[in-house]
Parts: sequence; structure tokens; C-alpha cells
Amino acid sequence: MPQEPIQLQPIIERGLLVGVAFKGMPSLFSLEDSLDELARLAETAGVTVVGRMTQTLDRPNPATLIGKGKLEELVHRVKEEDIQVVIFDEELSPRQQREIEKAIADENVKVLDRTALILDIFAQHAHTKEGALQVELAQYEYRLPRLTRAWTHLARQAGGRAGGAAGGVGVRGPGETQLEIDRREIGRKIAQLKRELAEVRAHRERYRARRRESHLPLVALVGYTNAGKSTLLNALTPARVLAEDKLFATLDPTTRKMTLPSGREALITDTVGFIQKLPTDLVVAFRATLEEILEADLILHVADASHPNALGQALTVEEVLDELGAAHIPVVMAFNKIDLLPDGQLPAELREDYPDASAISALKRVGLDALLARIEAELIARMLPINVFIPYEQGELVDMFHTYGVVEKATHEADGVRIRGRLPATLIGRFESYEHRVPGGQFM
Ligand code: GTP
Repeated sequence: MPQEPIQLQPIIERGLLVGVAFKGMPSLFSLEDSLDELARLAETAGVTVVGRMTQTLDRPNPATLIGKGKLEELVHRVKEEDIQVVIFDEELSPRQQREIEKAIADENVKVLDRTALILDIFAQHAHTKEGALQVELAQYEYRLPRLTRAWTHLARQAGGRAGGAAGGVGVRGPGETQLEIDRREIGRKIAQLKRELAEVRAHRERYRARRRESHLPLVALVGYTNAGKSTLLNALTPARVLAEDKLFATLDPTTRKMTLPSGREALITDTVGFIQKLPTDLVVAFRATLEEILEADLILHVADASHPNALGQALTVEEVLDELGAAHIPVVMAFNKIDLLPDGQLPAELREDYPDASAISALKRVGLDALLARIEAELIARMLPINVFIPYEQGELVDMFHTYGVVEKATHEADGVRIRGRLPATLIGRFESYEHRVPGGQFM
């Protein structure tokens, strides 16, 4: 039955990875690339990967995902190599998970899939209350149909409410009845978490309303996990944000102020790292950070140019942005970590596909001025042209125009100032009553 949070020390477990490719199914990632990434994920979660198995199939086996012979080989290797955790790169259905556990027939060996592993890592990296609640809810929802046996792998998370989610769930009861009690208990817990999240969100909505009142443009930093978002945020703003060479070091949005080349200010917000095969409903679970993206005036997409599959990672991020409904927001692309490239040159395939991309090193602070200039130019391009006459009594509006907009021409007259320029869409309303058009509808 679910219990209160238990905090256990991380244990290093011996893990075996299992990858499956399906014939005729094109993918942005090769099986090996995908397993390399799964290995990094596993290591981030404290698993030492000691072996891999792969199989190419026409279609998934509904009972066990992999074929019968492959499953026998898996069971054999688990015993021979003293494996404690088997991690599948594909999502396992509750039935497949049960059948594989049955075949292994050892309660001390855990069977996980990529989603469970990602949830585990998310749980370790949620720093705010909302992030922790989101992960806890996602874990319960993921686990409900899979509730058959102890899942201690997830019980050793470092602290926080999210650790508690994993803590007691899945302990095998004496029989079906116990399972039913557990399921009901989880259902109750899910409802409670949803209520708590609603409260946290109401609070957050108030915070966002205040931010909108600041009239500063918002730039959302997005990128594949480990691309260098937190490092770039640190380089562009005075704030210090955790930068770790671990996947998903950032799970909660952090919004900071940055100064653009002209002295104008903008807000920049860090978001959760994207990753391939992250199920959309899981993406949706991280609404908090994703809502930030949809509110942004501009998306700053950071990609790791030194990664062998930089292109696949960039495309994955673009797909997720599309799924989120963010396709209409303009994007500035920045290829990071150029300090790791020979001569600091971007590979030809990246230059071809992204001719306008900036090349930067967030760590060595290379190319950042040019990047900021591009961000500012894009933000200005999104502003709306306006032509106003502001009486001298309304001096604060003139200041506002200078601070948040772009003044192209200002003419001082006897009673006030004529200004031609551009303003952010959110501010246009404040100036409309002073709008001035010369006959014929031409701007002066
Ligand atoms: P997630 O939280 O996983 O989404 O990661 P992130 O995109 O926020 O990446 P983060 O800033 O944590 O950086 C990941 C790793 O890349 C860290 O070890 C950084 O020091 C390193 N890194 C970031 N930028 C650069 C760079 O320009 N050059 C080099 N060599 N390393 C970098």
C-alpha cells in the first residue's frame, strides 16, 4: 500500500539494456544511438550498464515484446551476469511487463522501460513544489495499470515528495484483494495530487499575470536534454542556475532577466530538456514548463553541435514543439558547444539545414553578443508599427515607449512629442488613443 516518502541511499545496480528495431519503421535515431542514450539515462539514475541486447522484429510480440528465443536468452543472461535491473528502450504494456517478470522469475530483478526510467530521473530533478507534484502524479498514473510487484528501483530517490510517490507503491500484497486495495488507494492519491496541483497552478497564474504586467518580452529556452540550456541561461543572465553533466538537470522553469545589446531588457525562461520517445502524455504532464513556451514571444532553440546525432535531436525538439502547438512562435536556433568542434566549425549538414543558426559556446562565452543581437532583432521584428502624438503631461508614456519599444523618429512640438516607432503588441492598447495618422492614412 502507498506509504509516506521513504528516503534511501542510492544503490548502484547492474543493468542490462534491451533495444528493439522494427522493420520498415523509419526513425531519427538508430538502435545504437537510442541505446547509447538509454545508457546515459540509466547511469543518471544510478545504474551501471553491463550489457545490451537487440532484436529486429516485424512487429512487437504482444505478450513479451521480444521473441520467445530472445526472452530465453535474456533470462539466461540475467542469471549469468548477475543483472539486477533490465531496461527496455521501448515502452512495455502492463501485460508485457508482467510476462517478462514471470519469465525472469526473480523478485529481486526489476523490469523497467524508458518511460519509467525517465520518470525516475524527473523525480530526482524536480526542484519546485509544482514539478515534484507533476512527477508524482505522472508516476502514479503510469504505475496504476502495472501494479503487480515491488518496484524498489524507484524507492531510493533522493528526497522530495516525488520520492514518496515511488516509495511504497507496488509492494506485492497477499493476493488480488490486496492489489485492489492498493489500486483504490492510488486512485485516491491521484485525485488528491490533482487538487494540490490545481492550487499550485492558481498561485502560478497570479505570478504570470504579474509578469505580463512587466511588459517585457519573454524568450523560452528549449533544447534536447544536455544541450546546454542552463549553461546558456547562466551566461546570458547574472543568475546562477544549476548546470550538471547529467540528463534533465533542469526540470522546473526558471525565469530571469537579461539585457539586450541596446540596453532593452527581456525575460528568459529555461524549460525541461526534450528527449526522443518521451510519450506525449508525459510531455503534457509537464505543463508548467510547457505553458511558458506557449506564452513566449520567441523560442531560443539550443542544440549540442558536438553531438553525433545533433540533427536528430534538433528534429525531435521541433516535433515536440509542433505537438505542443508552438509552431507559430518564431525560433532562433543556436548551435552550442562549438568549442568542442575541430576549428570551431559547424558540420556541413547542420549549416545546410540551418543556414541562419548562431554558432556559440555557452561555456566559453563565444558568439553570445551576436546571439543577443539576433534575439533583439527578432523581438523588434515582432513589434507593431505605430505613430503617436503624446502630450507633455503624459511624459510617462514617452518613457514607456523608449523603454519597451523602438523609437524610429521623435519630434518635439509645442504641446507634445510626435513619435514614430514600434511597440510590443501587449502595449499597443495603452497608446491607441494617442495614435496619429496623417491624411491618407500614411505614417508621418
Ligand atoms: P538538461 O537539464 O538535461 O535539459 O540540460 P541542459 O540543456 O540545461 O544542459 P546544461 O547546461 O546542464 O549542460 C550540460 C553539460 O554540457 C554540462 O556539463 C555543461 O558544462 C556542458 N556544456 C554546456 N555548454 C557547453 C559548451 O558550450 N561547451 C562545452 N564544452 N560544454 C558545455
